Amino acid sequence: MAQKVQFVETVLRDANQSLIATRLPYAKFEPMLETIDKAGFYAVECWGGATFDVCLRYLHEDPWERLRKIRAKVPNTKLQMLLRGQNVLGYSHYPDDFVRLFVQKAVENGIDVIRIFDALNDVNNLKVAMEATVNAGAIASGTISYTTSPVHTHKKYVEMVKELKEMGASTICIKDMAGIMGPKEAYDLVSAIKDAVDLPIDLHTHSTTGLAFMTYLKAVEAGVDIIDTAISPFSGGTSQPATETMAYALRQLGYQVDIDDNCTKKMADYFKGVRDEFLKDGTMMPKSMATDTQCLTYQVPGGMLSNLLSQLKQMNALDKFDEALIETPKVRKDMGYPPLVTPTSQMVGVQAVRNVLDGQRYKTVSKEIKAYCRGEYGRTPAPIDPEIQKLILGDEKPLTGRYADTLAPIVEPTREKLGDLAKSDEDVLSYIAFPNLAEKFFDERRAKEENMAVYTITEA
Ligand code: CO
Repeated sequence: MAQKVQFVETVLRDANQSLIATRLPYAKFEPMLETIDKAGFYAVECWGGATFDVCLRYLHEDPWERLRKIRAKVPNTKLQMLLRGQNVLGYSHYPDDFVRLFVQKAVENGIDVIRIFDALNDVNNLKVAMEATVNAGAIASGTISYTTSPVHTHKKYVEMVKELKEMGASTICIKDMAGIMGPKEAYDLVSAIKDAVDLPIDLHTHSTTGLAFMTYLKAVEAGVDIIDTAISPFSGGTSQPATETMAYALRQLGYQVDIDDNCTKKMADYFKGVRDEFLKDGTMMPKSMATDTQCLTYQVPGGMLSNLLSQLKQMNALDKFDEALIETPKVRKDMGYPPLVTPTSQMVGVQAVRNVLDGQRYKTVSKEIKAYCRGEYGRTPAPIDPEIQKLILGDEKPLTGRYADTLAPIVEPTREKLGDLAKSDEDVLSYIAFPNLAEKFFDERRAKEENMAVYTITEA
């Protein structure tokens, strides 16, 4: 029997986030939801990541309502979200009661699969979200944030996968957020994990460096079960490889791919129009669809390079670019080799620039790096250089346990504080996640409702 390969379609979340800064409003993709539902995807990634923030901040949409509307039109395909472990959708750690209620409500509103990751791969930061996902009856996809360093060995990754299984993961995701995984690494890592656990494996990468198609192919040869792709008009560059291309190539090689080509054709025709609108108004930049191999050369993710450049430009110190580039991996090493993903990529990048501009290492240290050295972000992949940690913390002792254990519950106090302003648990959660944005959103919603009321009375 032919080996079956399943697809996660990312156009509504990662492709949307990577190519057009998550600016896709619900109304723009609504006409395609029924087609997406019929296309035969393992899951549609449609929520979490930056979608929540952008809905409130720019799209004037209630993210919860958006999810319910997608669910109503996509009744047969699993809906997937991305969750940053103890950070949920933000960049700092939340108390456990918030993580639990958020996961429960996400599932109640329609999510089937929660992909749970941590920037440092500290499983202590995944535990509560994993448990809540299993309790809510959804699929917990335990995730490895993929990176390369002397301490990120396959043995370490396999150990982590075993811990994830122990915590209730029913699938494993290897998340290569920078698109740096090559075909050989994919083959070897997928093989190693397949040998160790009998869970379905999903590989997630980006086309940024141009490796992705080859990487997926070798991962499939090693037995990967699920790959993440985006419908062609929203594929390539910083997004995922194209859905139709992967389906075509894999079928030609004799794999079983249960994707309906009529549906993907309809989707491609439709999303071409959407893409052209975003190209026209400048939201989508052609550059983001091109191949960029810089991060293979520098081992620094593409997004970080442009951040370094813009920081130096602001400080009138563009001539220090090469020095900052050399300093970046050194800071990463000092910090115990964190994967360079938000928020650690920004923290490491800013520190490298500081070290170079000050002409003295760690003379100036951001409050984020301080918190990191105190252990507030979790256990680092390798120990932080003890001398540098001492230099940064002075006499302060780093935390040994889980940072979230030091945080007081937040849900009940917030519910009381908000009173009538919050109409549901979902409102309370939105407020805790993004207080200013949520408050503004509640005001707008009330104004709209009052207008409607006035309108209805005049009508009558
Ligand atoms: Co991604």
